[in-house]
Amino acid sequence: MRSVLVTGGTGTLGKDVVRRLADEHHEVTVLTRRADGEPGPFLREVGDLTTGMGLSAAVEGVEAIVHCATGTGDVEATRRLVAAARRSGQNPHLVYVSIVGIDHIGLPYYRTKLAAEQVVAASGLPYTIQRATQFHDLIARFFAVQRWSPVTVVARRFRFQPIHTRDVARRLGELVAGDPVGMAPDIGGPDVIGMDRLARMHHDAHGGRGRGRVVRVPLPGSIATGFAAGWNLTPANAVGTIGFEQFLAEHVTRGEA
Ligand SMILES: NC(=O)c1ccc[n+]([C@@H]2O[C@H](COP(=O)([O-])OP(=O)(O)OC[C@H]3O[C@@H](n4cnc5c(N)ncnc54)[C@H](OP(=O)(O)O)[C@@H]3O)[C@@H](O)[C@H]2O)c1
Repeated sequence: MRSVLVTGGTGTLGKDVVRRLADEHHEVTVLTRRADGEPGPFLREVGDLTTGMGLSAAVEGVEAIVHCATGTGDVEATRRLVAAARRSGQNPHLVYVSIVGIDHIGLPYYRTKLAAEQVVAASGLPYTIQRATQFHDLIARFFAVQRWSPVTVVARRFRFQPIHTRDVARRLGELVAGDPVGMAPDIGGPDVIGMDRLARMHHDAHGGRGRGRVVRVPLPGSIATGFAAGWNLTPANAVGTIGFEQFLAEHVTRGEA
């Protein structure tokens, strides 16, 4: 059993991480800006990575930190977290969640993630960086926002290997229980699927409502080239066990996808 701080423990991934770590009998503390959140199998530490408020108390006595928080200013936020962890004198294992292919795809958010990875690697703390492919939730969101449109627009030649956050949480649990590894092997979902087929799966999961015509548009530019080349994929590391259709089956009935 370890004492673990989860930043972003109220987020899409973080909730599954907290559940997993609690099931594995770790003592979990969640860093959150909200004092009034839902109760759960964890301690709550109110703090803010943007201002530094509450960070010293949050890192006090922890043996590992799973850093899932994301927002604006992630590089500075990660620097503040590292500084607080170093000041604590506990030398906690810092586990950072990142994204497959960020060094090949120049999205501004990906550049920020890459810079935050560098902060973690230079932190002087024992660390592990775990890159994952896109979460099912994110892919479903692309299509959910287009649900009332007569057509669903997808990028031509884009493929994804979406992964369930429970599968990412399982891997993060293994990392917390083990020794720091630096850069861990990438992880991805069970299947590589074209964006047009993902759109049809989403449409079918909603009972075929809407017109369901998928329009594939070519996107210009180096970012699109990076996705079309498959830099966001890791087929050799398809460790996810829950596919997109199964995710949709669970979430559509709950009105969440
Ligand atoms: N989405 C994907 O497809 C994907 C794929 C691979 C990797 N990732 C990475 O996985 C991680 C989690 O992503 P997610 O989609 O689960 O995130 P999310 O749902 O957007 O959750 C963001 C979390 O960050 C916390 N947060 C934001 N600003 C904060 C601040 N100033 N101080 C403290 N906490 C703050 C929020 O907590 P409160 O609101 O409670 O304060 C919230 O729990 C990110 O690092 C992301 O880059 C995402």
